[in-house]
Amino acid sequence: MADEAIRTTNLTKIYKEKSKQPVHALNGLNLSVQRGEIFGLLGRNGAGKTTLLRILTTLIKPTSGSASVMGFDVQAHGAEVRNHICAVLQENALEQFLSVRDNLTTYGRFHSVPPHEREARAQRVLDQFGLTEYKNKKAMDLSGGLKRRLQVAKVFMVDKPIVFLDEATTGMDPINKRAVLESIRAQADGGRTIVLTTHILQEAEDLCDTIALIHEGRIIASGSVATIKALATSVFELSITFESMNEELLAQLKSLSPVRFEQTGNVVELCINSVDGTVLDTIAQLSRISRITHLEINGGTLEDAFVELLGVSREDTSWK
Ligand SMILES: Nc1ncnc2c1ncn2[C@@H]1O[C@H](COP(=O)(O)OP(=O)(O)O)[C@@H](O)[C@H]1O
Ligand SMILES: [Mg+2]
Repeated sequence: MADEAIRTTNLTKIYKEKSKQPVHALNGLNLSVQRGEIFGLLGRNGAGKTTLLRILTTLIKPTSGSASVMGFDVQAHGAEVRNHICAVLQENALEQFLSVRDNLTTYGRFHSVPPHEREARAQRVLDQFGLTEYKNKKAMDLSGGLKRRLQVAKVFMVDKPIVFLDEATTGMDPINKRAVLESIRAQADGGRTIVLTTHILQEAEDLCDTIALIHEGRIIASGSVATIKALATSVFELSITFESMNEELLAQLKSLSPVRFEQTGNVVELCINSVDGTVLDTIAQLSRISRITHLEINGGTLEDAFVELLGVSREDTSWK
């Protein structure tokens, strides 16, 4: 598709090291990213996010399957892919002995930004990322959060259609983070495609147009934030069979303010709205009062997936 920025088909990556068990980091991953969107890859540590970014930026080769960036195959046309991207990866380094401004201009020079444009661009990037007051400081003298901000700012010295950010905002203090997020949003509004990884749901929610959940090297769910939110606040249908019924259990069930409630012996059918908490939490509470012998749930699989598969804490989810 012409307006597709990235596509992967059945992408797999197996890390094989001598005398070690092979690691299946990607397991048939299919992905499509549209141009001009901020695309968030959300998954817990070890899910395969960095591996995917390393393949898309041509640093490593996939074991099988294919990936293309701006229509160019990462293996057959690596140089073309590299011409269209820039990336902040976890191992990206700064020139510690250079000033903030010189880090920017040096990066520009390395990426063939014409000399007369470098200074102007550096000034623009300094302003945009709130780094002007630090411009003469050496990178080594910056706080950790500011170093990360400079790493991200650097890639915006060059005009590439796709920007990859691997956990770029992880560990930043909130003020730093807001400055960076606002700058990234401005870049996307200018037509760039931003692909970022994070293991923090709130971060993905604040910034991304589309979120894909990655778990054990596969995309298990994806959609717009609005879609995901709608799903997360949708009504769940539960059918629960308890070992025995009692007053406490009934009171607890009623306190869920079910949209619909039917009880036949030990079987309870009810509809609840998930905004009050996750369905799984609710069921866990009920099972403490009376053992559950049978359970059926319909709907709301996405939030369950977040909590169950990604292991994000309830505080991180903060669905409103
Ligand atoms: N160079 C490597 N050699 C062997 N295993 C690796 C290597 N890089 C990553 N892995 C393993 O691959 C899996 C996915 O890792 P990674 O892509 O870094 O995930 P994430 O970025 O989501 O935390 C993990 O099990 C990790 O230990
Ligand atoms: Mg990673």
